[in-house]
Amino acid sequence: MKQDLISSVQIILFLPLTTVGLAGQSFPGKPKIIRCRSLEKETFSCWWKPGSDGGLPTNYTLFYSKDSEEEIYECPDYRTSGPNSCYFNKNHTSPWTTFNITVTATNEIGSNSSDPQYVDVTSIVQPGSPVNLTLETKRSANIMYLWAKWSPPLLADANSNHLYHYELRIKPEEKEEWETISVGVQTQCKINRLNAGMRYVVQVRCTLDPGEWSEWSSERHILIPSGQSPPEKPTIIKCRSPEKETFTCWWKPGLDGGHPTNYTLLYSKEGSGFCASDIFWNSTSNNIFKVEEGSPYTVGFYRLLWIVMAQRRTSL
Ligand SMILES: *[C@@H]1O[C@H](CO)[C@@H](O)[C@H](O)[C@H]1NC(C)=O
Ligand SMILES: *[C@@H]1O[C@H](CO)[C@@H](O)[C@H](O)[C@H]1NC(C)=O
Ligand SMILES: *[C@@H]1O[C@H](CO)[C@@H](O)[C@H](O)[C@H]1NC(C)=O
Ligand SMILES: *[C@@H]1O[C@H](CO)[C@@H](O)[C@H](O)[C@H]1NC(C)=O
Ligand SMILES: *[C@@H]1O[C@H](CO)[C@@H](O)[C@H](O)[C@H]1NC(C)=O
Ligand SMILES: *[C@@H]1O[C@H](CO)[C@@H](O)[C@H](O)[C@H]1NC(C)=O
Ligand SMILES: *[C@@H]1O[C@H](CO)[C@@H](O)[C@H](O)[C@H]1NC(C)=O
Repeated sequence: MKQDLISSVQIILFLPLTTVGLAGQSFPGKPKIIRCRSLEKETFSCWWKPGSDGGLPTNYTLFYSKDSEEEIYECPDYRTSGPNSCYFNKNHTSPWTTFNITVTATNEIGSNSSDPQYVDVTSIVQPGSPVNLTLETKRSANIMYLWAKWSPPLLADANSNHLYHYELRIKPEEKEEWETISVGVQTQCKINRLNAGMRYVVQVRCTLDPGEWSEWSSERHILIPSGQSPPEKPTIIKCRSPEKETFTCWWKPGLDGGHPTNYTLLYSKEGSGFCASDIFWNSTSNNIFKVEEGSPYTVGFYRLLWIVMAQRRTSL
């Protein structure tokens, strides 16, 4: 078969060139193999760029041989990877084997072949980009952070399972420089130290060992909310009991970020649990808490444990 092909190519090449130029028709130009790529080391595809078509309908045929074999094969699948491509599924892919690949353009007048491309599937690995990147802002221990999640790249074979390494990059929208974070094999990442009120852009990419990085995924944008920081710690200024029957405490609120803030004052009697004052205060009212005491109690018996908790109104 190889013999046949080679001799037919030679015959075509040695045809007299007098046919060229008739009505502007000629041999097709030389096609060029532009890229071969494997998404996961198990299958691969090659793409070519056609040369001129010589003014005639032109067919493209991809032939390949393997370093260990004499035989010449034709492309098993011209469709899966789109126009001007050849897809080699698992059955047609063997690792650690060099494929010698050529594309031949043929029209009525003759044919023209590309330069051979030598391909070892393990050296052309580049996965697709991760998909479904989603961003969310979250809060933990009063620190605002960004939570990014994504999925591994899509593969034709949904059953195949590969371990990708990921990298994430982030920048404020108006800046040029990205900060890149190495994520490892997880498909999620927590990002701290972001500025409130700023819009950020995030992308992820992945790699399969051995291989190149994928393209960056499509961009996702997120606004880190301003004013969503929790209110600052309030301070108790003083407690006074003018007549030893009631007492009053005052506190100074911390910064509330301009939002209505509730303050709850908790107190306890020595040896008993906490009691919430259940009084609604907002930052515009006086920061005074008054405990009226009934007869069995006097102030002197209290060891007061003041914990003022301020909570932001969440329904913004
Ligand atoms: C093959 O294509 C190349 C480049 O397009 C061209 O120079 C050459 O003449 C073509 N060969 C034949 C036999 O037409
Ligand atoms: C590979 O070949 C086997 C056996 O011939 C066949 O069952 C299987 O479907 C083929 N796989 C692909 C991806 O073509
Ligand atoms: C690769 O294939 C082309 C076309 O079949 C052939 O001319 C070339 O000699 C082959 N290269 C090797 C190293 O076998
Ligand atoms: C191109 O392929 C089609 C379909 O296989 C065939 O009918 C046609 O003759 C081919 N043309 C050339 C120039 O080889
Ligand atoms: C990505 O998101 C789409 C739409 O939400 C969903 O249909 C698809 O299953 C997701 N893909 C993966 C790999 O999670
Ligand atoms: C805050 O308290 C002041 C004074 O008690 C009151 O007029 C105002 O309506 C309160 N604001 C809110 C948002 O509850
Ligand atoms: C603050 O108090 C108001 C009135 O009692 C209540 O409706 C609101 O839910 C409280 N907000 C928070 C964050 O506790």
